[in-house]
Amino acid sequence: MEDRGFDLEARLATLEENELNRTLSPVDRVAERGYFAQSCGGELPVLDADEALVFASNNYLGLTDDQRVQDAARRAAATVGTGSGASRLVTGDTMVHRDVERLLAETKGTDRALTFSSGYAANVGTIAALEPDVIFSDELNHASIIDGCRLVDCETVVYDHRDVEDLRAKLAARADRDDAPVDADSASDPNADACSGSDSSASASSDSSSPDGTESWLIVTDSVFSMDGTVAPLSALCDVAEEFGAWVMVDEAHATGLYVDGGGVVQAEGLEDRVHVQMGTLSKALASQGGYVAGSDALISCLVNDARSFVFSTGLTPPAAAAASEALHLARHGDARERLWENVAHLRDGLETMGFDVPGDSQILPVVVGDRRDALALEAALRDRNVVVPAIRPPTVPDGESRLRFAPMATHEQADVVACLEAVREASEEVGLL
Ligand SMILES: Cc1ncc(COP(=O)(O)O)c(C=O)c1O
Repeated sequence: MEDRGFDLEARLATLEENELNRTLSPVDRVAERGYFAQSCGGELPVLDADEALVFASNNYLGLTDDQRVQDAARRAAATVGTGSGASRLVTGDTMVHRDVERLLAETKGTDRALTFSSGYAANVGTIAALEPDVIFSDELNHASIIDGCRLVDCETVVYDHRDVEDLRAKLAARADRDDAPVDADSASDPNADACSGSDSSASASSDSSSPDGTESWLIVTDSVFSMDGTVAPLSALCDVAEEFGAWVMVDEAHATGLYVDGGGVVQAEGLEDRVHVQMGTLSKALASQGGYVAGSDALISCLVNDARSFVFSTGLTPPAAAAASEALHLARHGDARERLWENVAHLRDGLETMGFDVPGDSQILPVVVGDRRDALALEAALRDRNVVVPAIRPPTVPDGESRLRFAPMATHEQADVVACLEAVREASEEVGLL
């Protein structure tokens, strides 16, 4: 009989040969330090004898093991339940969902907010529900944005990273063609990166064109880019969007909770009234799980009806919603943000003094070493010194741009940052990078 299955062994062997195989390394707790286990496949992990410092977590404010956040999750589990039990539209909508959404809307300066079961689901569901005719997307946008674009039967035009002039040129070129009636098959445009694998049933709404009846355009960008630490020029992007009448959607996954009053870059730059869709996640600085979209009343009402990842997925768990609420409250009113930015400045300064170029302008500090084998060697040498900073390799970053992505947390002591820098110096010398 013919074998019509999948040759997974061969796939894994190829990954291994190319040093691209990724494995799981469990830890005993999510905090600035912990006991890790070596990769153990399906076996039960055995924790290392030594505690390691973690300089790679997105738990930027260190709130995952804050007593107040944990108590909020516990209380929600005890009083509301451990799970939502159904889609929000059926019986899964609870007071804790409304509480976190109210607080998110207040922080983001919008009419309303809506939570999803993950940031990934928020991006995919929102982009598919808006069903733009054309999406203009930064080349380094997160995979969940790219997947959202793929779900829509539209044209996706990719512009150079943070390059407002490139975006303007691409908007102008598209506007020249825009006299033609809306053409859903425009994905065949040879000048553009077309979406494939579209799901034209993604939205139940029938009319995706703009209020003028012309094409609907969405410019979408991360605010803080997760692997590069760069920050999008949001104000300039809004200027260009307004010139062409396009909407702007900003993914604040790595910014929510970290900027003014616990907001993101949109708040830091006072752009609440110019950004149409503010998306983010509860799973990073907000120490929980889930995603959100904040925007106008009409936007949220449309998403409640049309975002398939909202409609056809169980509501966020009540403990996750309550933990995020408490974390957002602490991000707004505590001193965690200040402590984070102090640690970021200290670590950046130390890495640069050592001779590393540390691009970007955020809490994410990438040290690009180039070859993936060098990145793996540096990761291992750091791990030998009880510092955990996993190497980032293709496909997450382009070939030849492998890196270590340092991310300090608010809860690191100064001595932890000093220990990390010392380990980096020794490890880099050992593997020949310094
Ligand atoms: C920029 C960006 N957007 C969206 C997501 C997805 O968020 P979540 O992890 O909550 O699914 C991530 C997370 O990795 C991200 O980095």
